[in-house]
Amino acid sequence: MVQKLPDHILHNLPRHLAIIMDGNGRWAKKRFLPRIIGHRQGAKTVKEIVTAARRWGIRYLTLYAFSKENWSRPKEEVDALMDLLSEYLQRELDELLGNKIRLRAIGDIEDLPPRVRTILFDTMNRTSKNYEMQLILALSYGGRAEIARAAKRLSLDVLQGKLRPDDVNENTFKSYLYTSDVPDPDLIIRTSGEMRLSNFLLYQAAYSELYITDTLWPDFNENELLKALEDYSRRERRFGKTSEQIVLKCTGNES
Ligand code: FPP
Repeated sequence: MVQKLPDHILHNLPRHLAIIMDGNGRWAKKRFLPRIIGHRQGAKTVKEIVTAARRWGIRYLTLYAFSKENWSRPKEEVDALMDLLSEYLQRELDELLGNKIRLRAIGDIEDLPPRVRTILFDTMNRTSKNYEMQLILALSYGGRAEIARAAKRLSLDVLQGKLRPDDVNENTFKSYLYTSDVPDPDLIIRTSGEMRLSNFLLYQAAYSELYITDTLWPDFNENELLKALEDYSRRERRFGKTSEQIVLKCTGNES
């Protein structure tokens, strides 16, 4: 069912929504099915959530599709996940183009098998001019690895005299991350009830609101996303300030 967004949610939408898609394996296990069937169902959820996010006007959607740690899963499962990713990119290209969605990837993309890399780069190139929404896939991604990579690139710039140590601050550091031109996530959703970040967007998540649901990713849907957005729309984001300061700012009475 196509849902219209209530006004109070529409006016408090996260600009950047990030999702830790968890629970595909448990979804399959509950049904005595192989894990890959859970991932396949999870890919259908990806489609539904991308469509809803685009329709509702979310500008950035980051999905944790494959972590650096996921390489240590059985080869059969890793191969199946890589196949699912390629199939998704091939199948959805027209949808991405038609809806002006730019596809991007963050992570150690060079770790991916060449066949997946080729499709990924092709999709990224063909959608690069799209501006309505950015769909960012975290692939072979780890937050600590991203921070270490940024530190390495930053120190090379210092060595080459392009940057002075005195100019290193939170903003200059951010410019070395994969997400240098992406606003920090306002809301991070994690499905299947686990209460952790699992190495996802560690630097960027400093002030993100967290929403954890017991729903397994293959069962997550537009309605579940609406519940998360409803919850988020009622939160007060203080960024370390007091509640009174935030109210004064909203009413324009801040001194
Ligand atoms: C976590 O569930 C999920 C993953 C490791 C992969 C996520 C992949 C998809 C949703 C499908 C393909 C992606 C795209 C973008 C088309 P889990 O296997 O860890 O579940 P469990 O904790 O219940 O075992």
